[in-house]
Order: sequence, then C-alpha cells, then structure tokens
Amino acid sequence: MPKNKLSLMFESIFKRDVLSGNTPKPELTVDVHAHVLPQLDDGPVDIEQSIEIIKEMYAMGYRKIIATPHVMAGYYNNAPEDILQSLHILKTVLKRRNITMELEAAAEYYLEDELFRLVECHKVLTFGGSKKYLLFEASFVTKASYILEAVIKIKQAGYTPVLAHPERYVSLNDLEVINRLSFNGALFQVNIGSLTGYYSKQAQELAELLISKKLVAFLGSDCHSIAQLESIKHAFKLKTFKEATQLNILNNTLMEKKITVFA
Ligand SMILES: [Fe+2]
Repeated sequence: MPKNKLSLMFESIFKRDVLSGNTPKPELTVDVHAHVLPQLDDGPVDIEQSIEIIKEMYAMGYRKIIATPHVMAGYYNNAPEDILQSLHILKTVLKRRNITMELEAAAEYYLEDELFRLVECHKVLTFGGSKKYLLFEASFVTKASYILEAVIKIKQAGYTPVLAHPERYVSLNDLEVINRLSFNGALFQVNIGSLTGYYSKQAQELAELLISKKLVAFLGSDCHSIAQLESIKHAFKLKTFKEATQLNILNNTLMEKKITVFA
C-alpha cells in the first residue's frame, strides 16, 4: 500500500528524533518512589539538592516523579499538608527555572500501628488517582505475618497496598510467602538499584526472582541523593532491567500527558 503524505511526514520526524538522540527512554518515564522533597526526611537537605536530583533524573529519561518522603512516628512526622506544601514550593521553583519535570507527592509509610490509625482515618497520601496506591515499607526484619496484616487492613480501608522494595526484607525470601501477599492484594515495587547488588546480594537475587515470576508491579529509584543515581544508571544497562520493563509494569500508566516519540 503506498504511504500517504501524513505517514511519510511522521516517519521523517521519527527518524530525525531517533537520530538526534532526543527521544526520551520509552521504557521508564515515571518514578514512583523518590525522596526528592527537601528537608522532610533523609533525602535532600535543601531545595538546590532537590533540583540537582530532578535535573539529573530528567536527563536519564524520567518525565514524572512521585515524591515519597518517609512517614514514621517520632522520626518523620510528615502530615499530608506538610508534604503538599513542600511539593507546592518545589513545583513553583521548578516552573520559575523552566524545568519541565512533572511532580506529584505521596509518601512512604513505615509499617507500625500508627499507619493503621492513619489509614483508618484516611489521613494518607496516595498516588495513581482512583487506584489509590499506598506505598509502605517495613523494617528489614519485620515478620511476614505483620506485612500480611498491613496488606489486608490497607485494602479493607479502600487503598491498594504497594510494598516498597520487598526484595530487601529477610522474611520475604520465600516464594510461598510472596505469593500469599500477592494473593491478598499486595503489589510489589522493586528498587532499580537492587538489580545491581547495590543493597545486598540477597536483595539482588530476590529482585531477580520477582522479575522472573512476573510479580513486579512498579519499579522505583528510591533515590535519596544524586550519588545514588549512579547505581540506577548502571541498572538501566542490565538485562534484568530490560526484562522488568517488559512485564507490563504500571509506572508509565501514571503519565497523564502521554509521551510519544514525536513529542
Ligand atoms: Fe524509600
């Protein structure tokens, strides 16, 4: 069939963008776990550090970041309004400096009884709009039964539980346990850095197992500093990263404005 004028025009734009190297990385444009809001947790100490990280992530192909500061009673008492105020300030500065990264905020909730209270009275920040993804983490030695209890309670309250970096928990080094959490509605967010062995050999192996069993819903940078982005860049080159991005992960479904190769 002969090509019409419009398709030839798109083809030439496509070729030009690919050749110029301006095409954003199509495999991962949204980060769902990043400590980029200043002075709320163990992430950036000021707004300049936040901007430095965001600019570097833009260069890596990211176009949207869900900022997820820690919430932990007695350590990081970040109420939704504190987080949203910090987001507003950072977004204002980004706009003033013509940095086009899309930015939203949720949180990384620490698994403790206080989390159950926050969930019951709906004082939590989630991402994904009506999907209400709630990101939570546990201590690295938390019992699997406590994680399961959290999954059930979070779900009962009307949220979608997303367990941060499951590969890093000692008690989850067991496929049967992982499957039980998944069966009860847990989604898993694997840290990209885990694929390089950045955290530990055991975390790397469990991350690889989760990928091979197609149990990864989200990939996250869990970035706290610009230095940490080096391990993410390294992971981008790995076969396991490519495999993970081919699993219908949900990151890019969170992009409101669809990025195409013509953009
Ligand atoms: Fe984190």
